Amino acid sequence: MARQRIFSGIQPTGIIHIGNYVGAIKNWKALTDTYDCIYCIVDYHAMTIEYNPSSFFENIMAAARTLIACGLEQDRCLLFVQSQVPEHTELAWIFNCLTPLGDLERMTQFKDKSRQHADNINAGLLTYPLLQAADILLYKAELVPVGEDQVQHIELTRRTARRFNNRFGMVFPEPDELLSITPRILGTDGQTKMSKSMNNYIGILEPPETIKQKLLTAATDPQRIRRSDPGDPDVCNLFTMHKSFSPPEIIQQIAHDCRTAGIGCIQCKETLFAYIMDELSPIQQRAAELERTPDLVRATLEYGAQRCRNIAQQVMEEVRKKTGIR
Ligand code: TYM
Repeated sequence: MARQRIFSGIQPTGIIHIGNYVGAIKNWKALTDTYDCIYCIVDYHAMTIEYNPSSFFENIMAAARTLIACGLEQDRCLLFVQSQVPEHTELAWIFNCLTPLGDLERMTQFKDKSRQHADNINAGLLTYPLLQAADILLYKAELVPVGEDQVQHIELTRRTARRFNNRFGMVFPEPDELLSITPRILGTDGQTKMSKSMNNYIGILEPPETIKQKLLTAATDPQRIRRSDPGDPDVCNLFTMHKSFSPPEIIQQIAHDCRTAGIGCIQCKETLFAYIMDELSPIQQRAAELERTPDLVRATLEYGAQRCRNIAQQVMEEVRKKTGIR
């Protein structure tokens, strides 16, 4: 039986942080064992906010190195850059013409980004989710592993597939999101989602001493003020990280020791740091190797793009026929 197809994407912002990693990428690798997986570096999406053209290409390559180092090697999945497959923007245009403006204006991310970038509310920011829908539907993907912040976009993707199928005839499946066990990681401030733009992130390739420093100063359960106060792991962002990095018996022990004030936050963070580095050290080493072998990275992306172009061209043929262009 054919494997179900998975698609997901990440913006090349120059940094991949622990939120990206435990919310999505760690799952991406695990899923390659059982699914037909396609992963995309979405450079066109990254152009919707102010960016620096002179470092953009290097950011794309850095994202590729990091993703390959996380285990997304060519023999496991397809990895490619969005702009290398022009059918993404072609399909997005057709979706633009099918979607009421109100649907896009209601998107939480559009509202948030319009506030954050009040001097640059461009049309791309508004139609962003339709390019994302095109990314997913172009490959007829059925599952989309993402963090919680993307769920609304996947809902819109389903609605877009339905709208297209009702108007022109059945082409697209309606995909479901697939959340990890830790779909929302807060930043080191403990206030908002971890993100590059909020400068509250821990990068997965940052030097161990930086990671340790950021963890040691990160916000925990705000009610736990003194060392002797019992804490509540369920409201502690660091405990969420433990869930993703530490073995089950340690997670249980930490929860118990936190609730009974058996350990303080510092000890909890030091344990977490050790497990994080167990997992990240090999990734950091592999990423450093890949920096010395750019041809291998380029070849992986080219292989992915070629295979994706083949799939995308076939699906676009279907779309062109259904929409009356051909
Ligand atoms: P992006 O680049 O912001 O993030 C990539 C992935 O990381 C997840 N993520 C988080 N998960 C948990 N906690 C956090 N603090 C955190 N921050 C980020 C995101 O949910 C995402 O899964 N619009 C998408 C990119 C995209 C896409 C697609 C995704 C474009 N086309 C098609 C899926 C399918 C985005 O900006 O992700």
